[in-house]
Amino acid sequence: MSMISSKSIESASDLQIVVSYTDQDSRLQAEQLAVSLGLELHEFQYLTESTIKSIDFLLLYKNDGLWLKEIASGSQIQVDFNSINKSRLSKKLQLAKAIGLKSGRPSVLDATAGMGRDAYSLAALGCSVTMIEQSKVIAALLKDGLKRQHQSEIAIIEAMSLQEGNAVELIPTLQVHDVIYLDPMFEDRAKQALPKKEMQMFRKLLGHDDKVDELFEVALKHAAKRVVVKRHRTAKPLLDKKPHAELTGKQTRFDIYLT
Ligand SMILES: C[S@@+](CC[C@H](N)C(=O)[O-])C[C@H]1O[C@@H](n2cnc3c(N)ncnc32)[C@H](O)[C@@H]1O
Repeated sequence: MSMISSKSIESASDLQIVVSYTDQDSRLQAEQLAVSLGLELHEFQYLTESTIKSIDFLLLYKNDGLWLKEIASGSQIQVDFNSINKSRLSKKLQLAKAIGLKSGRPSVLDATAGMGRDAYSLAALGCSVTMIEQSKVIAALLKDGLKRQHQSEIAIIEAMSLQEGNAVELIPTLQVHDVIYLDPMFEDRAKQALPKKEMQMFRKLLGHDDKVDELFEVALKHAAKRVVVKRHRTAKPLLDKKPHAELTGKQTRFDIYLT
């Protein structure tokens, strides 16, 4: 079988990714995704053992949406905004305080969207949020999560929009936002705030974000009011630049730069 490498779609090592679907209702969506990512498509029940052994990830449509499954570990993740603990969504959230929700409802550019949890939390608290995600695989999961959630939470989901691409290039082309929020992946595994399973899959898929300093500089130039950077509690500030304010929690710290 000729295997299409993910090299063209992800920056990490030479990973093999295949798109699949378990039921006919998802077939069209799976076909569209496979075409847009330039990946092979296989109906799940016809995936042979040798194909499965030769791939790293499956992008699998099931009747409850799109999943990213890592073959070696059997772990799978999907964007599920229902799994976010809604009772914790208050202006007292450190993230909400860090972006300045106390004194208004700033427009936010989340330049490292990932699984969209932070973006969703801010949208649920009344902000309009533009997300940027550079990984086409993660962006596909995000789009699927947004689409499913649109049925139950129209107002929140309509306050969120997604741009695919590298934020370093996209930020200067977008309208100015009050706040630019950065939550990049770090080289040091111990200092990553993501859930363990997700972190391991992100690492394999994406490696670490190596243009963080550049992204930070672009953000400082383009945010109307502030740049907020999520860091591990003990990590150095980006570019060793002292923030105007810090909010430190158990594991994470938000560095706030007024612009
Ligand atoms: C740690 S995750 C973000 C998690 C996110 N805050 C959440 O709540 O789910 C970092 C994400 O930022 C993305 N990313 C890193 N640098 C980027 C850039 N320059 N442009 C766009 N996306 C970027 C990575 O692909 C990854 O998905």
